[in-house]
Amino acid sequence: MRILLLGNGGREHALAWKISQSDKCEKLFIAPGNAGTQLVGENVDIDVNEFEKLKDFAIDEKVELVVVGPEIPLVNGIYDSFKNDPRTANIFVIGPSKKGAVLEGSKDFAKAFMLRHNIPTAAYSTFDNTNIEEGLLFLEKLTPPYVIKADGLAAGKGVLIIDTIEEAKQELRNMLCGMFGKASSKVIIEEFLSGVECSVFVLTDGVHYKILPEAKDYKRVGEGDTGLNTGGMGSISPVPFATEEWMKKVEDRIIRPTVEGLREEGIDYKGFIFFGLINVNGDPMVIEYNCRMGDPETESVMLRLKSDIVDLFEGVINTDIDTKEIIVDNRTAVCVMLVSGGYPGTYLKGQHITGVEAVKDSIVFHSGTTIKNNLLETNGGRVIAISSYGNSKEEALERSFIGASKIEFKDKYFRKDIGFDL
Ligand code: AMP
Ligand code: GLY
Repeated sequence: MRILLLGNGGREHALAWKISQSDKCEKLFIAPGNAGTQLVGENVDIDVNEFEKLKDFAIDEKVELVVVGPEIPLVNGIYDSFKNDPRTANIFVIGPSKKGAVLEGSKDFAKAFMLRHNIPTAAYSTFDNTNIEEGLLFLEKLTPPYVIKADGLAAGKGVLIIDTIEEAKQELRNMLCGMFGKASSKVIIEEFLSGVECSVFVLTDGVHYKILPEAKDYKRVGEGDTGLNTGGMGSISPVPFATEEWMKKVEDRIIRPTVEGLREEGIDYKGFIFFGLINVNGDPMVIEYNCRMGDPETESVMLRLKSDIVDLFEGVINTDIDTKEIIVDNRTAVCVMLVSGGYPGTYLKGQHITGVEAVKDSIVFHSGTTIKNNLLETNGGRVIAISSYGNSKEEALERSFIGASKIEFKDKYFRKDIGFDL
């Protein structure tokens, strides 16, 4: 199969790495890709949101399958754009329709969907600038900490967790007065849930689904989960509390009702669903849905997935993913993210990276990297994900840390405590 993968992060390098191992993959293009994806496929200089250019390219190159990494093109309707254009209607897109991507694109929609289908999630209420006063009163009825979320996509920055009522009221006003632009024209206030989080992924053909290995990511920049939120500083799979018994609860209470709910509501959804879960006294609850794989979870999950991913994609295309088998590597996989100093605040780009070839016992996934004048340079906050297998999390982490010590760039930083809470 001739495949076009969209995106340019560590998630996409991990997906490209996995896709390129399949005998069913005849040719892999990545748009726009990064310095790592070009080691396993051919980079194409087209932005993920340039749908017409992507379609022209797909037609010219006889692409049969498009795999979408990030959420933005999905929320913008790339699935529908390909499907509704007679020139590309026969090219299959792995990812939900625009209506399906709203599960991630609107937290208000996601919460109402969960309520309709009896899926466990925090109690909530939604407000806009016509009922700010009600929102302020609602906050007073809650106990701290207060959880306030922008409805729309806000690049991971739209969730505030606040300790005092005064600050919560101020932030509610700020958000509704356009702090995140259109994304916060509606705001969700919800009950604070206490527990450890876990990311669960499924691949669905719209009728059936298969559950991929779960993972936990580490979003805060500082050790011990302190400091600002980032795109993710590392990940680990498996997650020890995601036992067979716990995963059965996840499947019965969350996964099945979600897939069936989408179908009942006539929402076309053939792709990944990412369930951001929290374990509240042994019971899973949904924090959020995403309409794609996680980053940096994918950089651990792909190591543990032994099944041929292109064969699974064929199951999505043919609506027979129920006939496919998910074979999982029993080892632990971890990912340690090397970031540019200063990230998630301001940081330097264009810094020379050395030592990648010296990493032998890990898999190096590029995130924010590029090649300039034949040299590898930093091109983002999250630069390189070092993923490793181990017979224990300690062994896997040790390998990633050895890898991390070999790669050098100015102001390199990484967390040394990935998996500390498990
Ligand atoms: P989200 O973008 O919805 O995933 O939220 C970002 C992060 O905020 C989550 O990963 C959680 O750590 C935290 N969070 C969101 N909602 C809640 C909640 N209701 N209770 C506790 N923590 C939450
Ligand atoms: N790792 C969380 C995310 O991809 O949204």
